[in-house]
Amino acid sequence: MVRGEPKARRIIATMPTLEPLSVELVEEFKTVRLRALEDTPTAFGSTYAKESGLSHSDWLKRVDSWNGSRAVCYIAMDEGMPCGIIAGYFDKVDPRRVDVASMWVAPTQRRTGLGTMLMEAVERWAHNLGASELRLMVTSNNSTAKRFYERCGFTFTGKIEPYRNDPALLEYEMLKYPGNSPHPAVIAPAFDELERNAIYRVIRARRDVRRGFVPKPLPDALLNRLLTAAHDAPSVGLMQPSRFIVIRSFEVRRRIHAVFQQANRQALAGYQGARHDQYADLKLEGILEAPQNLCIVCDAQSEQGHGLGRQTMPQTAVYSTVCAVQNLWLAARAEGVGVGWVSILSPDALRSVLNIPAHIVPVAYLCLGYVDNFGNEPELERLGWERRSSLESVVFEETYTPGVKP
Ligand SMILES: Cc1cc2nc3c(=O)[nH]c(=O)nc-3n(C[C@H](O)[C@H](O)[C@H](O)COP(=O)(O)O)c2cc1C
Repeated sequence: MVRGEPKARRIIATMPTLEPLSVELVEEFKTVRLRALEDTPTAFGSTYAKESGLSHSDWLKRVDSWNGSRAVCYIAMDEGMPCGIIAGYFDKVDPRRVDVASMWVAPTQRRTGLGTMLMEAVERWAHNLGASELRLMVTSNNSTAKRFYERCGFTFTGKIEPYRNDPALLEYEMLKYPGNSPHPAVIAPAFDELERNAIYRVIRARRDVRRGFVPKPLPDALLNRLLTAAHDAPSVGLMQPSRFIVIRSFEVRRRIHAVFQQANRQALAGYQGARHDQYADLKLEGILEAPQNLCIVCDAQSEQGHGLGRQTMPQTAVYSTVCAVQNLWLAARAEGVGVGWVSILSPDALRSVLNIPAHIVPVAYLCLGYVDNFGNEPELERLGWERRSSLESVVFEETYTPGVKP
């Protein structure tokens, strides 16, 4: 973070992803490494002067040697720009030891958790290959790095060496064993890099889809996977209150569409002027085009879960069903299936068409199917109806303090 910047700026819109070093990333590797050497000239064994003169083939050779079963390097990428780096390699003498090197995080990404993410990536790699300790050297003037490594669980061994690039400085050895971490000795493993990237990608690429449905029904097995994902959602007290009504019949969809048209006319009447005209032009459902519709309802009176968690917040039953909707929405995006949520419906009219009893709460009416395209941005944003807000505008520290910038 830049000194003097408001605290809220520490929250960044996207979390960088870590990419294992590869030939494709040679330019990013060179960029981030040279930036690191320039930014903190006494933090590394090498110098900017030495490395800025390296040729392209020198960098390629280095990519090769910082890879494989004995060495690893991760580059942190933020929207296509490298913003952090770490390397680890097995000690030539002690086969149980991995040396951590080249650790650097761009100033704009500091205090965001990226440093920890980089360190954990090397730690996981080392652990998976049977290493029992991590070692690094930190220069005597680098107190920020010392504190960071201590927070990561490294301790000073007492071994001190002169720092080769500056006789006025020393290098301290630090080690980390699984047992000397300030955190519990065992930390449950995360998913690997590719899997993690996939989930964030699905979250970002999910869209509400109302147009472009392809008239090809979803295979039963696929629909079943989506319903399973929904049914696997978290629920208050393990209540699992969601019930799923799969609608394929054109006649039923036609009746629901009429319910939508009625509600949409009323909604339109509530807008005036330019908003009215803009609303009239929006396409807000795909009920007839999508070969499958799905109504997800909540049995808020179900005894399953024995009321746990619902005594003070009974609405958590419905929240649980919303979690099921979101699971299905994300799974559908991963499967290349479009989902559009239609809430412009009278719940009573919906009950009447779908025969939903009075004690069951209609939560979501969804249009589901293969589509010819997923937009890159919300349709309402593309059409100028609304804009997405920034993350920093909605995250507060300690208490609810919208708009307060310390
Ligand atoms: C509870 C809920 C109800 C929604 N109802 C409608 C709706 O009736 N018609 C519609 O076109 N979109 C509806 N949407 C979709 C939102 O407009 C959409 O999620 C939002 O504009 C962001 O776009 P994105 O989902 O593509 O990121 C609904 C979304 C949610 C979460």
